[in-house]
Amino acid sequence: MSKQLLGSLSGGTGVPARYHAVIRTEDGVRMSDSFYEELFGVRGKVALVTGGTRGIGLMIAEGLVRAGARVYVASRKVDACVETERALGQFGHCTAIPSDIGNVAGCELLAGEIASREERLHILVNNAGLTWSLPIDEFTEKAWDRVVDLDVKSPFFLTQKLLPLLRAAATADERASVVNVTSVNGIKPSGLMNYSYVAAKAGLGQLSAQMARDLMDDHINVNVVAPGPFKSKMTAPLFATDEMDRQMIESFPMKRWGRMEDAAGLTIFLSSRAGSYLTGVTLPCDGGATTIG
Ligand SMILES: NC(=O)c1ccc[n+]([C@@H]2O[C@H](COP(=O)([O-])OP(=O)(O)OC[C@H]3O[C@@H](n4cnc5c(N)ncnc54)[C@H](OP(=O)(O)O)[C@@H]3O)[C@@H](O)[C@H]2O)c1
Repeated sequence: MSKQLLGSLSGGTGVPARYHAVIRTEDGVRMSDSFYEELFGVRGKVALVTGGTRGIGLMIAEGLVRAGARVYVASRKVDACVETERALGQFGHCTAIPSDIGNVAGCELLAGEIASREERLHILVNNAGLTWSLPIDEFTEKAWDRVVDLDVKSPFFLTQKLLPLLRAAATADERASVVNVTSVNGIKPSGLMNYSYVAAKAGLGQLSAQMARDLMDDHINVNVVAPGPFKSKMTAPLFATDEMDRQMIESFPMKRWGRMEDAAGLTIFLSSRAGSYLTGVTLPCDGGATTIG
């Protein structure tokens, strides 16, 4: 480690006192636990993850719970909620609230449930989503409306209904964090014929930038995580057989599916002090699929 960095760690360049502790090892010095926690920690923060009962939402919820946040998850199926609360409860605080947020009334109900339990919400992850694939000549109004309602209307109205709690949590020094989960399909066309999905996800990307602008002075950051391929119920048809799975992996630049740490790590980063200077941006979480693939 350089002398310069040692100097800054020991307070020589005006680094806040809370960062000063360093850990000396036989190899030198490493980041102190307190510095790490200060920079990347979300301990004690209150978070809501929609669709947090399986797939990417469950991965994000698990990461937040393991990192010490008090996490609420929401999805329609009561048994999935019960199981998630049990499974994640082993690692920390998790409460599941059965909810259908596919319409504004559902968003309002969920926001009311959170407000009845918490005075502040530091982290909102709008993750619940749905896709629909049909050939272009056969695409239906139902396949349009169901997807657009859940994937772009619901993140807007759920955030709107939760603004009082987000504003109560947010300060200039510690901004609240809204993370909207879109998709690489909202950035780059694919062969999936998912017309309403790409419109909704691209729309949510631009909506997030607009909301980031308008919530700037409320100290609320709004960012986008755009996942690439993760194994989930949504993507199950893509790896239905071992051979299909092998072919999928072969087509990915990093030759692997996304993992819990990828989705959770980015969300924790965006919601911690380390990510506080980012708002209105889209971060692909895709192993290079949009840039290199
Ligand atoms: N997997 C990928 O490779 C991938 C890639 C790009 C983007 N994404 C995005 O990542 C997010 C999660 O995808 P996933 O693959 O994890 O999907 P998933 O396995 O299908 O999980 C979706 C989650 O949303 C919940 N949900 C669905 N409809 C809901 C509603 N009306 N109200 C409340 N909750 C609802 C589901 O639970 P219930 O059924 O109990 O409601 C489930 O917990 C989505 O926004 C998706 O578009 C995924």
